[in-house]
Amino acid sequence: MPLITAADAVARFQLGEVVAIPTETVYGLGACIDNPTALQRIFTLKQRPFFDPLIVHVSHISSARELAGEWPDLFTLLADHFWPGPLTLIVKKTAEVSSVITSGLDTVALRCPNHPVALAILGAINVPIAAPSANRFGRTSPTTAAHVLSEFADAVSVVDGGPCEIGLESTVVSAQVDNGKWKISILRPGGVSRQNLFDVLKREKINFTLQRESSVASPGHLNAHYRPNSPLVLLTNEIWSDSIRKSVEEKLGRSLRGWQELQLHASAQQTARELYENLRRLSQGPDYAIWLNRTADHASDDWEAIWDRLERASSLHL
Ligand code: TXA
Ligand code: MG
Repeated sequence: MPLITAADAVARFQLGEVVAIPTETVYGLGACIDNPTALQRIFTLKQRPFFDPLIVHVSHISSARELAGEWPDLFTLLADHFWPGPLTLIVKKTAEVSSVITSGLDTVALRCPNHPVALAILGAINVPIAAPSANRFGRTSPTTAAHVLSEFADAVSVVDGGPCEIGLESTVVSAQVDNGKWKISILRPGGVSRQNLFDVLKREKINFTLQRESSVASPGHLNAHYRPNSPLVLLTNEIWSDSIRKSVEEKLGRSLRGWQELQLHASAQQTARELYENLRRLSQGPDYAIWLNRTADHASDDWEAIWDRLERASSLHL
């Protein structure tokens, strides 16, 4: 049975199975971090290359600290403000963390998800769960149990925790200190915005710089990612026209059978929540284009993660 209860998920995790669980960001494809066979199976199921490391989910800051070789006070401060929630912290790992999870890196990505089902499961099994988004590698992330089923059919059991509240993956952050000054890097923008981070760091009087690190050592931040199965065309201050259709067809090397607009809400939160669902709904195959118009209306800080995903999801910039 692909749809299972949280109690069943606990039992299956303990038996060493891979199970998809809801989080507030996207659904994750999880395995207990102490089971190497289950961890390997995540990569097989997702067709994910082994060079792309996984995020480890914990129910509490104390479990995160146990997996960290070093845990700076700065991370206690960030975890106190943003956990449970969509912030992933990169820390030096202990030997306990398998290199299958970290792709051989000496750091591990940790987060405490803000979803009652995920927290209940983590609390019951008492072992952290490594989980990437529950989609095939490079594809659109799932924000409902039905999306997970459409990715994996009977191969994966899913706990239905409803549609994800945030709808975009967590913000991934690393930090280095030099002479008392923290250099904080956003490796992937996400559910916690740059402004949210900035405000907390400022308020807590941390000596810091905060920047987006676009070309990071982490190989998971690939340019072509989150792709729907129809080509996504990003336009700037422009709407679809016959001449655009012609240039899209030229670039694709085939004729289009149809095209639809991806409309954005005025609210970034609502756009994020519905983004992956909308991309899936509008994806009707390779001969149908999805287009959207990027305007100054959608340029504030809380749109950063949305544009990051849309740029990676798009195959054509005109
Ligand atoms: O919201 C989320 O983060 C979701 C839910 C399920 O928690 N998970 C998720 O996992 O988005 P995934 O595997 O799709 O993305 C994990 C990202 C990748 O870009 C990966 O490269 C990065 O985290 N990452 C993992 N470990 C890392 C490390 N040690 N250093 C730098 N980046 C790391
Ligand atoms: Mg992913």
